[in-house]
Amino acid sequence: MYIQILGSAAGGGFPQWNCNCYNCSGVRDGSLRAHSRTQSSIAISDDGEHWILCNASPDIRAQLAAFPALQPARQLRDTAIDGIILLDSQIDHCTGLLSLREGCPHKVWCTEMVHQDLSSGFPLFKMLEHWNGGGLHHQLIELDAKPFSVPACPGLQITAIALRSSAPPYSPHRGNPQPGDNIGLFIEDLHSGGKLFYAPGLGQVDDALLSWMRRADCLLVDGTLWRDDEMQRCGVGDKLGSEMGHLAQSGPGGMLEVLDGLSGPRKILIHINNTNPILDLDSIECATLAEHAIEVSFDGMRIQL
Ligand code: MLT
Ligand code: MN
Ligand code: ZN
Repeated sequence: MYIQILGSAAGGGFPQWNCNCYNCSGVRDGSLRAHSRTQSSIAISDDGEHWILCNASPDIRAQLAAFPALQPARQLRDTAIDGIILLDSQIDHCTGLLSLREGCPHKVWCTEMVHQDLSSGFPLFKMLEHWNGGGLHHQLIELDAKPFSVPACPGLQITAIALRSSAPPYSPHRGNPQPGDNIGLFIEDLHSGGKLFYAPGLGQVDDALLSWMRRADCLLVDGTLWRDDEMQRCGVGDKLGSEMGHLAQSGPGGMLEVLDGLSGPRKILIHINNTNPILDLDSIECATLAEHAIEVSFDGMRIQL
């Protein structure tokens, strides 16, 4: 299985356009040793030719330009994106569909909850109906733990795992969390045997989820915030990570503690918010991750399982 990290930042990217926090101003003026990042999305493939896009970020145009394998140029209009999976209905994970309108129709796998949000609060399914004969064809992801596959990559067996997180602010059921608002993916390559667990938005880890995570060779998980109250401490917002459905890395029960309990898999963080001190390569927090053998994904990172 080939995994390409198209974007490794949380919503807003890094630096965020209107932000002058320590990290954003530092990376902008070069005083901070850090890498700029686009918003979270990955592409996966079983053969390196046919790709599944997992989440479609607002930065997709730059992400496609940075990864030529997605433009094989076999015909006048072409793409190697042969299926799209959405893990939630957040702006940073879905807005890229608007930029893919010229390539409609697209098959889009998502849960019923995400489909409802994207047909009401943020009606992408309805809007894109006007492009090329019914723009987005919804393929239902069930929450029955039965694996599914995307025809373009038949060697990848994909299982959706319902996660505790939050629906976006425009969701009709914001504040009333439903199974399927947010999923993680357990992806197994039937030929190589490689197994990935991918969850860019992960609010809580329970025993059932731990047993999926234990089976994986590689964990690509929520790295949004170092501290739950980080946005407040940085003076950029009043929301807690836990309110937004993100488990912070530090503190009791935090992501570091969760990952420390798993000895087998390679551990990589994704969906890093621009306030997170781990973005500063010279920070104590970045050194702490290294001590725990936890990596931070970056735009353009490749993983093969
Ligand atoms: C989130 O995951 O909470 C989002 O990144 C928020 C956003 O995109 O505004
Ligand atoms: Mn997000
Ligand atoms: Zn910032």
